[in-house]
Amino acid sequence: MATQLHRHLNGSAPAAATTAVDTAAVHAATVDAATVDAAVDAALAATVAETIGAGFPDGLATGSARTAARPGSSAAGEPDEASGVAVRVRGLRRAFGDHVVLDGIDLTIAAGEFVALLGRSGSGKSTLLRILGGFDTGVEGDVLAATRRSIVFQEARLLPWTRALGNVTLGLSGKEVAARGRAALAEVGLAGRERAWPVTLSGGEAQRVALARALVREPDLVLLDEPFGALDALTRIRMHALLRELCRRHRPAVLFVTHDVDEAVLLADRVLVLTDGALSLDLPVDVPSPRRRSNPAFAALRARLLAELGVDDLEGTH
Ligand SMILES: Nc1ncnc2c1ncn2[C@@H]1O[C@H](COP(=O)(O)OP(=O)(O)O)[C@@H](O)[C@H]1O
Ligand SMILES: [Mg+2]
Repeated sequence: MATQLHRHLNGSAPAAATTAVDTAAVHAATVDAATVDAAVDAALAATVAETIGAGFPDGLATGSARTAARPGSSAAGEPDEASGVAVRVRGLRRAFGDHVVLDGIDLTIAAGEFVALLGRSGSGKSTLLRILGGFDTGVEGDVLAATRRSIVFQEARLLPWTRALGNVTLGLSGKEVAARGRAALAEVGLAGRERAWPVTLSGGEAQRVALARALVREPDLVLLDEPFGALDALTRIRMHALLRELCRRHRPAVLFVTHDVDEAVLLADRVLVLTDGALSLDLPVDVPSPRRRSNPAFAALRARLLAELGVDDLEGTH
């Protein structure tokens, strides 16, 4: 299983193999067990690939209709890493039928830059993240993202039948993989929990495993989709500190989706607001460290962002 998983993650076409499950399993009177096994592995590999942010493992460059940059086909699909750019998007448009979700998005994220993306529910934040992750190619415009990238979602998305270490090293191969996985778990404060089953982990611990899984791939770009949204307030504070420390050490570019204005101001170098399919605001976070909510610069930025989101700043009026 592990070998097949690896093979599928490294180049075969999961979609075609997934179709084989439908036809072989449903229509054939006698089914070749090996064929079904292979198809199930491929379907699983496709799910796993999305889970760990390895949508295009043989290239990881996001193409688009206009650039026609096939994943892995050429350097045309990747940002110019020499120029220190992790994301470069020009004229991005995404519609689902008549529903235009993103329109005219231009975005550049520098190497090592931490960018937060705010927007109301349904404004298209996750859609943009998925596009940058390489999971949605039905787009118009130019979309370039660093080849080495990882995604973390609100849910940890751990495979329940695999222990913590196995979840961290999912889809990786090579001699040093277990050691790297253990080191990543130690970095997120889970040394000694390698053999823990996902069901035995708290929400915060599971999300630490998800962060370790992102880190172990040594990404140049980390895409986070409301990663702490399901955690309690105290756990979230600890996770903020952990994420800041991990970013300080590894310096990936980060796109951090949240609808929590304070979280954005606490963590990011720059905050974007997505409104009606476009980036309506792009502000640097000029708040001295340690960033405190009581700081006037913090309060001013929060008020500006809340106004952009169409929400009254209640704290500012009391
Ligand atoms: N695969 C899809 N098919 C149709 N509509 C979609 C699809 N994915 C997202 N949408 C729509 O795009 C809009 C933006 O969704 P999303 O990016 O998830 O918003 P956000 O993450 O900001 O809450 C929503 O109206 C959603 O229904
Ligand atoms: Mg979302």
